[in-house]
Amino acid sequence: MEKMSNTEMKNMFSLEGKVAVITGGAGSLGEGVAEGLALHGADIVVTGRTLKTLEETVKKVEAVGKRALAVVCDATNEDQVEEMTKKVLEKFGKIDILVTVAGIAKRHPAEEFPLDEFQQVLDINVTGTFITCKAVGKVMKEQGYGKIITVSSVRAFNGHPGGYAAYATSKGAVSILTKQLATEWAKFGINVNSVAPAIFWTPLTQEVLEDEKLKKIFLDRIPMGRAALVQDMVGATVFLGSSASDYINGHVLPVDGGTVAG
Ligand SMILES: NC(=O)c1ccc[n+]([C@@H]2O[C@H](COP(=O)([O-])OP(=O)(O)OC[C@H]3O[C@@H](n4cnc5c(N)ncnc54)[C@H](O)[C@@H]3O)[C@@H](O)[C@H]2O)c1
Repeated sequence: MEKMSNTEMKNMFSLEGKVAVITGGAGSLGEGVAEGLALHGADIVVTGRTLKTLEETVKKVEAVGKRALAVVCDATNEDQVEEMTKKVLEKFGKIDILVTVAGIAKRHPAEEFPLDEFQQVLDINVTGTFITCKAVGKVMKEQGYGKIITVSSVRAFNGHPGGYAAYATSKGAVSILTKQLATEWAKFGINVNSVAPAIFWTPLTQEVLEDEKLKKIFLDRIPMGRAALVQDMVGATVFLGSSASDYINGHVLPVDGGTVAG
């Protein structure tokens, strides 16, 4: 790889001309990331289990002047994920960036955790992430280029008293999957990194927000004393999706107000 020109260096965070696929694109973070990457220049594909819920995100992307495509796709269904990549290639001809935002959380005391719910969390957060990376990774291998950003969590670094046996296990797996794929696919020109947020107030964390005691436990563990905002996630994904992070591979980036530092 050649040294960048001054113009390329100045524009290293730009996503102009890039195509980004975002799973879980109807969710709070998925929508925020879609709009954020579009504001930085990318055309956007959002995927999710129902078309209706993706329409709002499509409108937001188009409102900032970028092209958008919504594709119905359950991240745990390999056929649907393969079909989704075909649709993206038909419309845009390439996939530069993948952000695997689709995920769920279930909380129960470990000793009472229903096994079916434990398995469901692993299926969506781990297997769903793997299936999507596998399908898009094949496309990126063919292209000789690509940026994959998985979504882990601070729960992958430290245990928590709030009943996260399934979720923490799943996000720990997402972090090591990220490193594994990075080491396997670096030779194909693919960067695989992860963003590990602390807490955002979204439907996923609504029950924490509503439980004053639990909310205090969460915020007390964040040195900066506040939950994350969508722009915190956008900054990290723009960085990991752009050429500014070309030499960063297999990294799990906490977006956590300092939580895992102490
Ligand atoms: N909110 C937080 O505080 C927080 C913290 C750390 C990590 N995360 C992670 O960020 C991601 C997004 O979280 P969020 O807060 O926006 O949650 P959210 O519930 O608003 O969004 C999650 C989205 O994933 C979709 N989804 C679930 N299962 C799916 C499947 N099988 N196929 C396709 N889509 C599926 C849901 O429909 C939803 O649109 C998750 O991976 C979550 O674990 C969130």
